[in-house]
Amino acid sequence: MPRRRILVTSALPYANAPLHLGHILEAVQTDIWVRFQRARGHECHYVCADDAHGTAIMLKAEERSISPEAHIAEIHRSHQQDLRHFLIALDHYHSTHSDENRQLCTQIYRRLKANGHIISRRITQAFDEKKGLFLADRFIKGRCPQCGAPDQYGDHCEQCGATYAPTDLQNPVSVLSGTPPINRESEHYFFDLPQLADFLRDWLTSGSLQTEVANKLREWLEAGLHPWDISRDAPYFGFAIPGAPDKFFYVWLDAPIGYMASFQNLAERNGLKFDDFWAQENQEKTELFHFIGKDIINFHGLFWPAMLHSAGLRTPSGIFAHGFVTVDGTKMSKSRGTFINAATWLQHLGPEPLRYYYAAKLGPGVEDIDLCLQDFVVRVNADLVGKLINIASRCAGFVAKLGNNRLSAALADPALWQAALAAGDSIAAHYENREYAKAMRTIMRQADAANEYIAARQPWKLAKQPDHAAEVLAICSMGLNLFRVLMIYLQPVLPDMAAKSAAFLQSDLNWTDDIEPLLDHPIAPFKPLMRRIEQAQVEAVIAASKPPPDTPAPANHTAPEPHSEIIELADFSKIDLRVARILEASSVAGADKLLRLKLDLGGKTRTVFAGIKTHYRPEDLIGRHTVLVANLKPRKMRFGTSEGMVLCAADGENLHLLEPHADASPGSRIA
Ligand code: 2FM
Ligand code: ZN
Repeated sequence: MPRRRILVTSALPYANAPLHLGHILEAVQTDIWVRFQRARGHECHYVCADDAHGTAIMLKAEERSISPEAHIAEIHRSHQQDLRHFLIALDHYHSTHSDENRQLCTQIYRRLKANGHIISRRITQAFDEKKGLFLADRFIKGRCPQCGAPDQYGDHCEQCGATYAPTDLQNPVSVLSGTPPINRESEHYFFDLPQLADFLRDWLTSGSLQTEVANKLREWLEAGLHPWDISRDAPYFGFAIPGAPDKFFYVWLDAPIGYMASFQNLAERNGLKFDDFWAQENQEKTELFHFIGKDIINFHGLFWPAMLHSAGLRTPSGIFAHGFVTVDGTKMSKSRGTFINAATWLQHLGPEPLRYYYAAKLGPGVEDIDLCLQDFVVRVNADLVGKLINIASRCAGFVAKLGNNRLSAALADPALWQAALAAGDSIAAHYENREYAKAMRTIMRQADAANEYIAARQPWKLAKQPDHAAEVLAICSMGLNLFRVLMIYLQPVLPDMAAKSAAFLQSDLNWTDDIEPLLDHPIAPFKPLMRRIEQAQVEAVIAASKPPPDTPAPANHTAPEPHSEIIELADFSKIDLRVARILEASSVAGADKLLRLKLDLGGKTRTVFAGIKTHYRPEDLIGRHTVLVANLKPRKMRFGTSEGMVLCAADGENLHLLEPHADASPGSRIA
């Protein structure tokens, strides 16, 4: 097959919260596909970015008393870190709040306007006079006009399911200020989608969409397209619309253009040509794929291609929508502890078990993926530890002992080897079609065949008879060759384990059309590739994901801990404890245990030296919140002055930096 040139994106996460396991599903689905394409020798670029604009992000920054720029920079670091730790092989992770995106948005808007596809209208919307803000529906609450339920949002009632306009709500109030909104008129700009109805009708038959998605979009199209409001009034965190004072591009206009901006940044650094992947004339020469969640198909399946078409750019080769993550059969829930952040997961479990479990459940459609926690433990242990790694671990010892870590010179079972290779075509087709569950089942059947081969020959019994050494070596060398083929097939899903296996086998894991066996080949001593997962690890994730209880647990003892002196409340209240955000963390030359921390106390900064270097990597601390003793007398040290002390929990050999709830803003007093 000729070398394909492919650009892949996953949807841009909002820069207002940490990534959770739903984001990770999409990143893993995309990453497996990208790694597969690269393994097959294709040119495959993978870009993403933070979706950094909009009212929600502006308000979040305001609530934290920091600028939106500082807020999105912090979230950007945390998103990048989570994605890296989940082994997502992105070529670039950008931000929609970037120069590239500003320029591209302006350019595309001008083209749409020049084509007569931008119209303006005056519209009336709810306005919060106290905040000076127009209110999106979700920022208005009131009594449902249908059933009278209180506290319902501006567009639908959660009690009776009615949908309505916010102006229909009884006793409406702004959730931002608690005051009743007024109606106010302003001019808005619209992308006139009805003018593009014919183009969209053709696009829906282009084969670029999953059938169920195309059908849904066709329903919307036939119900009648409306001009799409692409402007928002100031104040708004976004890009100003050229020639329109106090008007900003709606976040959903600039978000997909962020795909282009991220690629442009990559292209400029890596000598790629931007136009190769975006110019209309290259529609058939290169490929463009977007992985998205099923909740945003209208933006990607209608608005985005219409914008690209009007701007004279290429349209996507494919848009791949997936379903939501449920945990134990229900929507992720904060109170049940099943709304799990990526970082929380990684504190207790590695990335690869989840990557494998997601792969084992993913198909090409939009069905939800259930993370059934008990099944997760059983499946990962059974497939990865019990089947896959078992092949390597049971063979490696004999190859070390009887072959001095050298594989035998001939294959013991050429037919079985050929069968393992023959499975490659269907496994590749499954990856290509995003039928990962089928790919995993096919690979695990090959793992079963390898284990059956070894079990039938019982090398552990033969090894007790000295004259069977060559036979045992041949059986185990066969086993390790089969293991290598399985790891070649699994490398898109388990990249770390694949790298460790390559080091063990002292060989590449290239997925070529003619994989050769390793014969008379040295290997390295075997090291465990993965540990069994314990149910307790999963339980720890759930416990860590539950919100702290509203009220402190009642004290069940009054005796002080040994060696702690009883103090008066007045003594305690002398200590000024503050929430601090770590802005910078760096090693201190000449001090083995110290890190220099620059802390944000909500506007003011402090420098503190903390003896935590052996427990934390500086880069992992940036952006975290911790607790500072703010009124401790400054201490002059050899390296500078420490202006306070951060608090840690110490349990013998471990230190854990105390972290207040993520919602607590820097500078707030801890009382
Ligand atoms: O739904 C979301 O999370 C959006 N932030 C996705 C944007 S994807 C693209 F259009 F940028
Ligand atoms: Zn109702």
